[in-house]
Amino acid sequence: MAFKTVGVVGCGLMGSGIVQVSAQSGITTWVREVDTATLDKGLARIKKFLDDGVAKGKVAAEDRDRTLANIKGTTKLEDLSGCELVIEAAVENIEIKRQLFGTLDQVLGADALLASNTSSLSITEIAASTKRPDRVLGLHFFNPVPLMKLVEIIRALSTSDAAFARAQEYVGQIGKTPVLCKDTPGFVVNRLLVPYLLDAVRVLESGIASREDIDNGMKLGCGYPMGPLTLLDFVGLDTTYFIANIMFEEFREPRFAAPPLLKRMVSAGHLGRKSGRGFYDYSK
Ligand code: CAA
Ligand code: NAD
Repeated sequence: MAFKTVGVVGCGLMGSGIVQVSAQSGITTWVREVDTATLDKGLARIKKFLDDGVAKGKVAAEDRDRTLANIKGTTKLEDLSGCELVIEAAVENIEIKRQLFGTLDQVLGADALLASNTSSLSITEIAASTKRPDRVLGLHFFNPVPLMKLVEIIRALSTSDAAFARAQEYVGQIGKTPVLCKDTPGFVVNRLLVPYLLDAVRVLESGIASREDIDNGMKLGCGYPMGPLTLLDFVGLDTTYFIANIMFEEFREPRFAAPPLLKRMVSAGHLGRKSGRGFYDYSK
């Protein structure tokens, strides 16, 4: 049976994209943000993406209008009570996620599924903060969500066969391609991608080459759509720093350790595109 009502917690970089693709597939999509100003910013990001799509001839104007009409914004988690599935896309912090899942567990109907878009945290640990660990799993989307075709579906130790199958139906309904994965730090993609991104920072830090040459090396030499430093600015240096620390804590391998430069850039508020400055300047 197709999903009719889905909820998303967080309307940041990832949450806004998840809201968009759900609403675009005809699903009534609730989105909860911490306050009205942050909610409005997230909803404006969705509208801009759809407007740009219309301008590029990729989205029909009626499709944009129908999508926007399917989105219901709120600052109250209780408003998500009628959702069949809620996807959490809040900041990469285990305490915040456990607290959100604990509350959502009390608010949602007994059959509802709960998913996290976490990049690196343990889905099993998040599931343990609820009384429905059999209906908790990972749905890991990729940035930018409307353009990236993949969703990793992560099975916690506690996830039931029925919940795992139902999550695959949702991913099919929104037109994405699934990769199925066990609950391990970084799953498949970040297990491979994160050490590569951290190594790019180490190459820059050691003065081997300029940021442009590092990026051009991987773009023109390996055919990557973006160089690693541009991609880091795109993902968010704060988010990458949180992910690296979580993966290092789990594996204790140097390749997951955050380079000192990354930590200092985060301390300085140079978070990438979202703050207007990262490895490159976006202030204009
Ligand atoms: N609406 C609809 N379609 C749009 C659009 C919009 N607003 N904006 C762009 N598009 C379409 C374009 O028309 C184009 O379509 P065609 O291929 O049919 O021509 C396509 O999307 C690509 O857009 P552009 O040509 O404008 O841009 P690009 O070629 O530079 O690609 C990109 C942009 C897809 C982001 C590409 O640079 C890319 O793939 N970058 C790498 C992204 C990546 O690695 N993401 C993963 C990050 S890691 C992660 O997410 C996990 C984690 O946990 C951290
Ligand atoms: P973001 O900084 O753009 O958004 C974070 C969101 O968390 C915001 O909506 C913010 O209001 C909310 N938030 C902050 N504190 C909160 C709290 N105490 N309670 C509830 N909500 C709170 O981050 P993002 O890039 O959208 O990342 C969100 C999640 O998605 C993270 O788990 C991240 O690891 C994961 N992720 C990120 C990417 C990426 O490329 N950035 C890709 C895949 C997955």
